[in-house]
Amino acid sequence: MTSFTTDRDWWRGAVIYQIYPRSYQDTDGDGVGDLKGIAERLPYIASLGADAVWISPFFTSPMKDYGYDVADYCEVDPMFGTLADFDTIVDMAHRLELKVMIDLVMSHTSDKHPWFAESRASRTNPRADWYVWADPKPDGTAPNNWLSVFGGPAWQWDVRREQYYLHNFLTAQPDLNLHNPAVQEALFDVMGFWLQRGVDGFRLDAINFCFADKELRDNPPMPLAERNDIGAPSVNPYNYQRHLHDKNQPENLQFLRGIRALLEPSGAVALGEIGEGHRGLELLGEYTNGNELLHMSYAFDFLANTRLTAPRIAGIFDRLDKVAADGWACWAFSNHDVTRHVSRWALGPEAARAYAVLLMCLRGAACIYQGEELGLPEADIAFKDLHDPYGIEFWPIFKGRDGCRTPMPWHPDDVNAGFSTARPWLPVPEAHRPLAVAAQEADRDAMLHHYRRALALRRAHTALRTGSQTPIAVTGEALSFVRQLEDEALFCAFNLSESPQTVELSDGTWENIGADLGSVAIEGSHAALGPWEFCLAKKA
Ligand code: BGC
Ligand code: MG
Repeated sequence: MTSFTTDRDWWRGAVIYQIYPRSYQDTDGDGVGDLKGIAERLPYIASLGADAVWISPFFTSPMKDYGYDVADYCEVDPMFGTLADFDTIVDMAHRLELKVMIDLVMSHTSDKHPWFAESRASRTNPRADWYVWADPKPDGTAPNNWLSVFGGPAWQWDVRREQYYLHNFLTAQPDLNLHNPAVQEALFDVMGFWLQRGVDGFRLDAINFCFADKELRDNPPMPLAERNDIGAPSVNPYNYQRHLHDKNQPENLQFLRGIRALLEPSGAVALGEIGEGHRGLELLGEYTNGNELLHMSYAFDFLANTRLTAPRIAGIFDRLDKVAADGWACWAFSNHDVTRHVSRWALGPEAARAYAVLLMCLRGAACIYQGEELGLPEADIAFKDLHDPYGIEFWPIFKGRDGCRTPMPWHPDDVNAGFSTARPWLPVPEAHRPLAVAAQEADRDAMLHHYRRALALRRAHTALRTGSQTPIAVTGEALSFVRQLEDEALFCAFNLSESPQTVELSDGTWENIGADLGSVAIEGSHAALGPWEFCLAKKA
């Protein structure tokens, strides 16, 4: 394999470990995780066998959306530390052969960003056009019917300009006007700043929200029958619309070309998040096609509310092959925005183990969200302890995102499970203590070691990282496929159910691999899979 520093294609088969900085490790005793805490834990992340870390936003922010509302793109929020602390992370990570990806929010800023302060001051200032401003309708109501992802209209009245501004998310997150080339240039400068500090890539937040229709046309309704379980919870009126005009605009492509050109000299990687329940895979194809746009897109299909079944996974790849043949996906079951998948899909430990191996076998990069490697369930947070404005808005039907953002448990017996000496910003659930890292380290059969073995399997077989993948065959509740690169061919079959399934092997002679993971033995030309069992084999 090519070395850590010279392989420009490292991202394709990468396993990216997502860190939510507020909740990883606190070192200064304020109950909030920080950059020094991340640095301390980098050896642990390297020990998992991850290729990269993606660190959620740690920039200066009033924290209305917990860092996704940025007030200074080029400074670390004092709560998290300093730029010097970040430099230490980059140094240490590189010594551990870990790439560092940071999370850039380019579709909107905080309303406390100086750009917005200037923009809202008058209709004529130099940054007047840096955000999406619009006159009211003659009756004073909002310019159109667009809705905010976090509830309510997407427009907020501003008394200084006597105009509305657009916010796809919170009112404290005004949308930048990317149609203005000066805004794009300012964001390119931000990327340049971080590239100079040595980052290896960017996770581009809400990348399909960067442009809004210039004519501000109304979105059409989305018929009930066509709503799906990807993305916003069903009680959110955001689901009532087809998002034709408030995001996913064609102008995005030119912007992505600019980003790629900027990244090309260093080989840094762009991973764009596409929050879109309907045309998500099509956009993935459009945004990652060729070598001039994004390297890969963070898809929402594996974040679905209902469990991913064999037919559903086959359907996703079938569609991908049609609409994104040349594209590259990055998959995740869990992140800081959704209910942890062990709880979301009501998985027992055996099922969770099968899904972990499946993620390592499918084509595409993969993200693992902190604590996923411990098999953490979602925490149940009382209303009085909620922080997430999204959860507060849609309580009690949708409880928001705090349940997946609780502190990482390091030691079962330590105060606050070793996360902090002070009261953590979100409580440590009692159920997480026995699952803490130190407890699992001591048990060879624990989920943590299973994840290590699954990641090691992917590292050991280049076909799993970058190989081709045959169309997925579905047999009852089981799925199977072959990954191939040059003369290495790997057969992968998974029973995603409680009932036994028998899967026929592809032609050829196959030798079992992955026995240490629990892969079952082949019997002649088939594999008999008990509940949640899987079979991994290599062509002889
Ligand atoms: C992030 C969220 C955030 C939103 C607005 C996303 O998709 O993952 O956590 O609230 O963008 O920035
Ligand atoms: Mg702290």
